[in-house]
Amino acid sequence: MSLRLALMMMILLAGAARAQRPELAATPPLGWNTWYAFGCQVTEVNVKAAVDAMASNGMKAAGYEYVSLDDCWQGERDSEGRIQSNSRFPDMKALGDYIHSRGFKFGIYSSPGPKTCGGYAGSYGHEKEDAETYANWGVDFLKYDWCSAGQVYQPSQVEAAYEKMHEAILMTGRPMIYSLCEYGMGAPWTWGPKIGANLWRTTDDVSNKIDFQEYARMMFVGFGQEGLQHFAGPGHWNDPDFLQIGNRGLNLDEDKTQISLWSLLAAPLFSSTDVTKLTGAQLTILTNPEVIAVDQDSKGIQGRRLSQAGPVQVWAKPLSRGRTAVGLINSGESPFPASVDFSDIGYSNPARVRDLWERKDLGVFKNSYTTMVPKHGVVLIEIH
Ligand code: GLA
Repeated sequence: MSLRLALMMMILLAGAARAQRPELAATPPLGWNTWYAFGCQVTEVNVKAAVDAMASNGMKAAGYEYVSLDDCWQGERDSEGRIQSNSRFPDMKALGDYIHSRGFKFGIYSSPGPKTCGGYAGSYGHEKEDAETYANWGVDFLKYDWCSAGQVYQPSQVEAAYEKMHEAILMTGRPMIYSLCEYGMGAPWTWGPKIGANLWRTTDDVSNKIDFQEYARMMFVGFGQEGLQHFAGPGHWNDPDFLQIGNRGLNLDEDKTQISLWSLLAAPLFSSTDVTKLTGAQLTILTNPEVIAVDQDSKGIQGRRLSQAGPVQVWAKPLSRGRTAVGLINSGESPFPASVDFSDIGYSNPARVRDLWERKDLGVFKNSYTTMVPKHGVVLIEIH
C-alpha cells in the first residue's frame, strides 16, 4: 500500500470514529430524567427512590433503562480542575454503582458553556477532565445543554463545541450515549450524527412549567416534528423532550396522546416525573408494551403526518414486517371522527387493524378505517 493510500485510510478511519455509533442507540433510548420531577432541588435520595420504584413498578420491565441526572448535581472544581458533586449528591461513584446494581444505566448532564442553565459549573475548558470523571463514575449517557455557551462561542462554533466533548468521551474509551440540547437552533439534525450525537433536542422545552398550558405546548412540539423524519434513524434520533405523564397539566387521554405521538416519532422516551407517585392508570400508559414497541421498532423510521383536517391529524410510522402504526389524534374540544385511507400508507388489499391501547384486534377492513376519537385523545392502531 502506498504511503498516500495509507494516510488517506487513516484519515477516513479517524472520521468514522468521530461519527455517532449506531449500536449505542440502535433504537431510541428509554429512561427517566430528574428535570421535570425535581428540577434543581433534586437529591441522591430522589434518584435512588426512582430507581427502586422503576425496578418494581413495571417500568424497567417495559424497557426504561437510563436513569439520567439533569442539571444541578454539580459542586465546585477541585484544585486540579476536577468537577465535584454538590452536597445533595455525596458520592457519585456509589450512585452510579447503585443505578447499575439495579440493572439500569447512568446518565448525567453538563454544558459546553461555563455555566449550566441552572447556574452550576459547566464543562467549558474542562471537557477532557469532565469526560474522564464521568467515565470513572460509570456514566453511560451525557446530555450536553447549550445554556451559557453562547457567551464563549460564536454561532458558527456550535458544532465544534459539541464535537469537542464527543472527542473527550471517545478518549475515555467508555461508550456513552451523547445527547445534544441546543433547542434546535442550529438544525442539529443536519450535523449531529457527524459529530457523534445519538440524539438532539429539536425544540425548546416541552413544558415551561409557568403557565401550565401543557396540552397545547405538547401538541405544538409534537406536531412540529413533521419534516424532521428524514434525519432520524438507528443511532441518531430527533428528541422533542421528555414525557410529561404524571406531571401537573395533562389528563389520561392527553398522556396517551403524548406517548403515542412520541412513539410514532421514534422519539427517545424519558419519563420525567416523580415515579414513586404514579397512579396505576398512569403506569399502564407508560408501560403499554404494544405502544413502546412502535417506538422501538427495529426499522427506526420516524413517522410522518398523513393528513390534517379540522382538529384531527393522522400520523403514520412504517414498522418492520410490513406493518404500519397509525395515530388518529384529535386536539379538538369534543369527540371527533377520524379515518385513515389504506392507500395512503401503501395497502391496496383489505387490511387487519389492531387497537394498541385496547390491545385487541378490530378485524379486517376494506379501503379505510374510521373511528371516533375522544377530545384531546388518540386512537393508535397497527395495520397489516
Ligand atoms: C434547559 C433544558 C432543560 C433542562 C434545563 C436544566 O432549559 O432545555 O431540558 O435541562 O435546562 O437547567
